[in-house]
Amino acid sequence: MYNAKAYSAASATSPLASTTIARRDPSDQDVQIEILYCGICHSDLHQVRNEWSEVLPTVYPCVPGHEIVGRVTKVGSAVSGFKPGDRAAVGCMVDSDRTCPECRAGLEQFCPNFTLTYNFPDKHLGGVTYGGYSDSIVVDQRFVLRVPSNLNLAGAAPLLCAGITTYSPMHHWGVTKDKKVGVVGLGGLGHMAVKIAHALGAHVVVFTTSPKKTDDALRLGADEVVISKNADEMQKHAGSFDFILDAVSAAHDINAYINLLRRDGNITLVGAPEKPLAVAAFGLIMGRRSLSGSPIGGIPETQEMLDFCGKHNITADVEVIPIQKVNEAYERLLRADVKYRFSIEMASLKSE
Ligand SMILES: NC(=O)c1ccc[n+]([C@@H]2O[C@H](COP(=O)([O-])OP(=O)(O)OC[C@H]3O[C@@H](n4cnc5c(N)ncnc54)[C@H](OP(=O)(O)O)[C@@H]3O)[C@@H](O)[C@H]2O)c1
Ligand SMILES: [Zn+2]
Ligand SMILES: [Zn+2]
Repeated sequence: MYNAKAYSAASATSPLASTTIARRDPSDQDVQIEILYCGICHSDLHQVRNEWSEVLPTVYPCVPGHEIVGRVTKVGSAVSGFKPGDRAAVGCMVDSDRTCPECRAGLEQFCPNFTLTYNFPDKHLGGVTYGGYSDSIVVDQRFVLRVPSNLNLAGAAPLLCAGITTYSPMHHWGVTKDKKVGVVGLGGLGHMAVKIAHALGAHVVVFTTSPKKTDDALRLGADEVVISKNADEMQKHAGSFDFILDAVSAAHDINAYINLLRRDGNITLVGAPEKPLAVAAFGLIMGRRSLSGSPIGGIPETQEMLDFCGKHNITADVEVIPIQKVNEAYERLLRADVKYRFSIEMASLKSE
């Protein structure tokens, strides 16, 4: 074991603060990574404040962060794919049982025995896993990803959650050229969804509550932008969408979007608000529409997404901040005031 620097929250109401955590020494299968950047996902905020207490109660102290990129510092004797100095990335999972049907299909996100990157039982050290708001991490080689060399690391970090969480359902629901795709909420996930759907050749419509994001949405690859509070503008799109991705982090009216789907259209929830959303049966019944959800993505698909982003030169639009600004960043996230992802430069931990 060795000590790593990190930022943790001591309770649901405490700010994140500097701390020291134990990391395991790399075993034969492990890769040790110096973390250079870690994105701030809204899930970090939900988790730190225990907003998902019924599904994933938070164990304190909590070190969040699952959009991790950095450089390999050490590898175990059985590691073949990485060597010291390589760029490497870690997303939302650090382990799974590898034997169940889901794992065998490369769908580790559905493994009943997976280990999430933070706030999950740590099989090696006991207690819970600690995430990427830290200067280093040790992860089994099977859960370490490769970052294409043309991608800027600060902007690549958010691909590890926001990127895969939007890429995977679009892939599953057949988003291709000429499909009409809606993206609800232009935050960290939403702006990645726009870039990816645009690169897939879809006709992309952004729904936002923030009129000041209109120009950015068009620049990011949207073909049209709708201010969702405007009922007339919404009505113009009734019954026309093949697919809508809902990436909103708070309570909102999902029925307004269900009504915009064409026959057999699908709306997938990736946003995970604290409270349940109300669904009107008739919106789904009329038009045989479907509502589904989607969690992150498996390891092979995460690598596929990174390679796709490398090919299309896609990274997140990031505001790079030092770790000392993380609490301020959380408040801004709640006000939808970030263009469009915070990426923490972990070198700032050195002064702690
Ligand atoms: N399914 C998964 O595997 C998965 C993975 C990662 C994250 N998530 C969840 O996805 C959600 C989004 O995460 P994120 O990191 O992208 O968050 P984010 O950057 O905070 O973006 C959320 C966006 O939702 C919109 N919004 C916020 N409050 C709203 C309200 N009251 N009514 C309507 N729209 C509102 C805003 O967009 P506009 O300003 O454009 O309206 C905001 O930018 C979170 O709940 C997160 O936990 C799920
Ligand atoms: Zn996330
Ligand atoms: Zn499994």
